[in-house]
Amino acid sequence: MDIQKRIDQLMEQMTLEEKASLCSGLDFWHTKPIERLGIPSVMMTDGPHGMRKEDNSDTSLGMKRSVPATCFPPAVTCASTWNPDLIYQMGAAMADEARDQEVITILGPGTNIKRSPKGGRNFEYYSEDPYLAGHLAASFINGVQSKGIGTSLKHYAVNSQEYLRMSISEVVDERTFRELYLPAFEYAIKEAQPAQVMCSYNRINGVFSSDNHYLLTQILRDEWGFKGIVVSDWGATNDRVQGIRAGMDLEMPSSYGEGDKKIVKAVQEGVLKEEELDTVARRMLAYILRYAPEVTPDFNYDYTQSHRLARRIATEGAVLLKNEGNLLPLTKGENVAIIGALAQESRYQGSGSSLIVPKQLVHLPQVLAEANQPYEYAAGYTLEGDGFDQKLLDEAVALAKKHDKVVLFVGLTSNYESEGFDRENLDIPRGHTQLIKAVREVCPHVAIVLVGGAPVTTDWAADADAVINMYLAGECAGEAYYDLLFGDVCPSGKLAETYPIAATDFVGDPYFHGGPRTVEHREGLFVGYRYYDTAKKEVRFPFGHGLSYTKFEYSDLEVSAARIYDDETLEVRCTVRNVGERDGAEIVQLYVRDNESTPFRPDKELKGFQKVFLAAGESKQVRFTLDKRSFAYYKVA
Ligand code: BGC
Repeated sequence: MDIQKRIDQLMEQMTLEEKASLCSGLDFWHTKPIERLGIPSVMMTDGPHGMRKEDNSDTSLGMKRSVPATCFPPAVTCASTWNPDLIYQMGAAMADEARDQEVITILGPGTNIKRSPKGGRNFEYYSEDPYLAGHLAASFINGVQSKGIGTSLKHYAVNSQEYLRMSISEVVDERTFRELYLPAFEYAIKEAQPAQVMCSYNRINGVFSSDNHYLLTQILRDEWGFKGIVVSDWGATNDRVQGIRAGMDLEMPSSYGEGDKKIVKAVQEGVLKEEELDTVARRMLAYILRYAPEVTPDFNYDYTQSHRLARRIATEGAVLLKNEGNLLPLTKGENVAIIGALAQESRYQGSGSSLIVPKQLVHLPQVLAEANQPYEYAAGYTLEGDGFDQKLLDEAVALAKKHDKVVLFVGLTSNYESEGFDRENLDIPRGHTQLIKAVREVCPHVAIVLVGGAPVTTDWAADADAVINMYLAGECAGEAYYDLLFGDVCPSGKLAETYPIAATDFVGDPYFHGGPRTVEHREGLFVGYRYYDTAKKEVRFPFGHGLSYTKFEYSDLEVSAARIYDDETLEVRCTVRNVGERDGAEIVQLYVRDNESTPFRPDKELKGFQKVFLAAGESKQVRFTLDKRSFAYYKVA
């Protein structure tokens, strides 16, 4: 039967209490069933870079162990691939894993704008740029939903910090809100229609997201045409009755009937119109009926496909920041010193609600052994505290002395970044910086592998010939390191965020965190490269930066028209040639600048990108279409 007809029938049969019961969860992960009417309970689970379905056999309190699943690289690594097709494939593979685990909605992707490099959840978000973040989120959603599994686009909106995230009011002016913090959500909604949108914990200009009619109804549904349900972040519900009015459909997790009782009482007392509840109940029915049939208990998925894909994403997301004298790639078979505890036991994902149990975790030593690659190893630091350990450092220096080349692994260990807190500075642990200095003094060639989920200060990069930023590489970390260090894969990632020189360089830094009640976005639009470029402030590694083992040349730049009006579009073309000796890929980025603007605007803004794969010597023409929106700013009046 047509879903709409079935919904009409069910609505006629449902009591007030039953309608209200659909508006909150059964437990942590399920919706409530209404058995007498054949309405099933459906399951959703984290998270953005792999399935975190809790294992019911784990009876411990707090966050439970989860069923093993492919641990893909998190959003920050995905973003630096700048490859929407690959992110689509990741979504499709995760949908197969979801179906295998009888889950109908994946709680992701997260597409908040990284206001400050200090934000604790930056590893879970794509970029400081809304165009890039929105288009990648849309690809992920389309990939998952192409297989009939739902997604939950989160955290709507302005979850810019972890500090006091459950109460802080993010004070943002209307233009900044519309130009910077909303478009990533807008693109994803318009291009991909996720099954759910998850509202954020924070308030925006005083109003909790979960109570926010302007956000959840006027903008999301009326302006953008969102058709799915809005779910609260876990525990983000403030006023359940106002939430119904605002358009917040599903309270998660369960409030053990408390929220439902408030809704019923409000209708009985005439505070809430029954039609308002009906609208929400209808949306919940549409969601459940559309996605429930996708549970097919006999479905079996071959996880090795996902593992191969995760390896490709990890290699494409790595960013070669520096490569003097072409130190990288290394020659296979040549004995090298590998130093740093992160080489032995790498960090491959972030911490918090997205933490998953990987299906097949591979560290570097296993890969080196399988490839018969000779190497000698020293830990150099510990993975605890600030990592400093004089004895380990001395051993590492002794090893480095014997070698002409050292590969040094450093970065953010798990105590340095996580959901739940922001970083106070952008430093890597002291034990790592001391080690870099000491090794540099005794070894002529140093390549650094940087691990971590967010920008760090890199004064130490001056002491290295090469730096490759692997971010968090997922369960294939060891394989991805090998592929890139030994040249099986040519690096092709570019930064989706700026690496500043100092932690305090960002103009909004003094206002970040704020508290106790509000945090003010006084920098307005001037976040990330929008700030550094406009203020002409030097950075260490800019947004969009990334080197390769080959070289590319651009030519024949053409623009089809000098102006466009209304619905017209404009084409930009250029030719890119791989002039090096290896096959590789280049990310062509198109920025727009307003040369004649009256209102203030950022120096430039990303409005197109394409990743082009080119064999050595090959060239291709790249075409972009710009429309009116590509040139628009938001005029508040
Ligand atoms: C996080 C969400 C997550 C949810 C369920 C919340 O604390 O903010 O991103 O999906 O928990 O685990």
